[in-house]
Amino acid sequence: MPSILQFFPEQASSFAHDVDALTLWLIGMGAFFTVLIAGLVIVFAIKYRRRSPDQVGENFHESPLLEITWTLIPLVIVLFTFVWGAKVFFRLYRPPAGAIEYHVTGKQWMWKTQHPTGQREINELHLPVGRAVKLTMTSEDVIHSFFVPAFRVKADVVPGRYTSMWFQPTKPGRYHLFCTEYCGAQHSRMIGWVTVLPTDDYQTWLASVPVQQTPIEQGAALYARLGCAECHGEGGGRGPDLNGVFERDVRLASGERVGADETYLRESILDPGAKLVAGFGRTMPSFRGQVDEEQMHTLIRYLKSLPETRAAAAPVAPENVVR
Ligand code: CUA
Repeated sequence: MPSILQFFPEQASSFAHDVDALTLWLIGMGAFFTVLIAGLVIVFAIKYRRRSPDQVGENFHESPLLEITWTLIPLVIVLFTFVWGAKVFFRLYRPPAGAIEYHVTGKQWMWKTQHPTGQREINELHLPVGRAVKLTMTSEDVIHSFFVPAFRVKADVVPGRYTSMWFQPTKPGRYHLFCTEYCGAQHSRMIGWVTVLPTDDYQTWLASVPVQQTPIEQGAALYARLGCAECHGEGGGRGPDLNGVFERDVRLASGERVGADETYLRESILDPGAKLVAGFGRTMPSFRGQVDEEQMHTLIRYLKSLPETRAAAAPVAPENVVR
């Protein structure tokens, strides 16, 4: 098998094989029909060529059977390909529950990563083998794109919103990481390495990197420093209670409902009036310029952790929140 697949990069994630199989199928189908059609064009051009200057083409009659056949066969093939592709797609885009969450920030021209335990790296990411990994990604400036060929994953990294990807590395090794969106003069140098380690080595590696606080602790400190609790704490009342806010269905002053995902929380911190929660005034100032993307990530990690980290979870005013 490896000899025929050397055309592809190394397979180092749980769905690399599926992606390759689908790609081979598409290439195979494309090649088959290209050869078939081009071959028939040539054969027919020779076989039915005009043999004398006064030769006239014969009358011919359409054949329903032939037409139905050449419609049905491609239909079956493309539907089969669609169902197969959709299955692979859904697998690629739905991270399993319990995936370890890492954070990635793209910036001209480097990749900054942070582990859930707080370790930070630049143009490097160390991961344990055999565990599902989810990357939450954003950019500080322009659009970048995170691509690890050996894992068969690629996703745009966009300023102003969060994108994510997941994969499960299947074997230890060092795998090239590329930026695949032209992002300025040094784009071609925006490369790095993902290092997959056996679990024990990963733990050793984690222990070898000094870290003061986890992202959640950093977020909690920032939350306190920015004075968020004055309005959003229990009994604050001027802003919605943020306990368990993540992935809640929030009713807005406009009557709309939105899911409180990472992008919503980020927007509400930078532009509080954009999606005002029903029942609250425009009292919150924007924190634009006061928190960078990495701090924003820690704030959101803290908000996501809230029901557990704040022991006494205050009930949320029912008129403001639809669960
Ligand atoms: Cu970042 Cu290209």
